[in-house]
Amino acid sequence: MTRRVTVALATGGVDRSYDVVVGHGVRSSVGEVVAGIGAVRRVAIVTQEGIPFSSAAALGLDAVQVSRHVIGDGEDHKTFDTVARLCREFVAAGLTRGDAVVAVGGGMVTDVAGFAAASYHRGIAVVHVPTTLLGMVDAAIGGKTGANLPEGKNLVGAFWQPAGVVCDLDALATLSERELRCGRGEMAKYHFLTGDDLQSMDLADRVARCVEIKAEVVASDERESGRRALLNYGHTLAHALEIASDHSIAHGEAHGEAVAIGLVFAARLAERLGRIDAERVQAHVQVVDGEYALSSAIPHVAGADELVALMARDKKAVDGLTFVLDGPQGVEVVVGVDGTVVRDLLAELLPA
Ligand SMILES: NC(=O)c1ccc[n+]([C@@H]2O[C@H](COP(=O)([O-])OP(=O)(O)OC[C@H]3O[C@@H](n4cnc5c(N)ncnc54)[C@H](O)[C@@H]3O)[C@@H](O)[C@H]2O)c1
Ligand SMILES: [Zn+2]
Repeated sequence: MTRRVTVALATGGVDRSYDVVVGHGVRSSVGEVVAGIGAVRRVAIVTQEGIPFSSAAALGLDAVQVSRHVIGDGEDHKTFDTVARLCREFVAAGLTRGDAVVAVGGGMVTDVAGFAAASYHRGIAVVHVPTTLLGMVDAAIGGKTGANLPEGKNLVGAFWQPAGVVCDLDALATLSERELRCGRGEMAKYHFLTGDDLQSMDLADRVARCVEIKAEVVASDERESGRRALLNYGHTLAHALEIASDHSIAHGEAHGEAVAIGLVFAARLAERLGRIDAERVQAHVQVVDGEYALSSAIPHVAGADELVALMARDKKAVDGLTFVLDGPQGVEVVVGVDGTVVRDLLAELLPA
């Protein structure tokens, strides 16, 4: 069965709502999404080597003229250079203002292709076809696009909402176990953002519900001034671990795995601060270590003091740290968390 989630966006008086389609075999509906945009004559498919079903026929794009643009794999290719190369290829392919980009791939592809679409002719339509679990529940939803600079990740980009998103679960069959783990780490956070019992749902319902939760938060705060920060649940420690592990390849934490660790740490911190009880912490452990077969153990990529310093730098905190924490009113942003409490807890949890 196909699930359809509407992302309702109406800020500025303009209706930019669009649908996210989730299901097995839904890839051929990309053609219908493109037809719904208007007078699209040419479509540029942006993808990578090894991505399943990125052909015009598989995506149901028989009615339009299609060009294919293959970009490099990995964060090193998530650059202005790639965006510029794509835009120049769009010119060569004859794309005009009324035409569209279809991004088929993981978050790297949808971020870069989305940024190119946002820039080309000051913005042409883009349809996302995420092919990783992380792309489906996170990167392709919400309208953030971007590229890296040598100075840091995602430092440039634009808010550019897609005209539609098509999540074909068949793509997951060829995904590596590592990539699936990363997607599950990001999925785990959704278990705590609402009262839903995601564990009782099958994969399609679960992906659709994650999309719905992200879409609902994004719709209420499209430009990330407040509520959207809830989507960073588990990310404060995760970012610190990611930065710290750059120095130690053997312990390199992939983003979703780091988020999983960060979620359980945030729960333990919330318990330490008297915000939740031990049972609720156990629910986090059960989802991360049990349901998603991830690890919540904090790897020794840095000492407690260094991790606290990294977390403080992350948010430029002077009066304590900022965390997204569970509590009696659910998950919320908490400012002014005492750095000593965080450090002591980390010191207890880090392997000796
Ligand atoms: N825009 C946002 O809101 C947002 C949110 C989260 C993450 N991101 C970005 O997303 C990126 C990470 O995305 P990701 O985890 O999807 O990684 P990715 O796009 O780099 O893909 C991971 C690997 O899987 C391969 N792959 C993709 N789909 C496949 C499939 N179906 N079968 C086999 N191989 C496949 C890719 O070629 C790549 O080698 C980062 O750049 C991150 O900054 C953006
Ligand atoms: Zn994340």
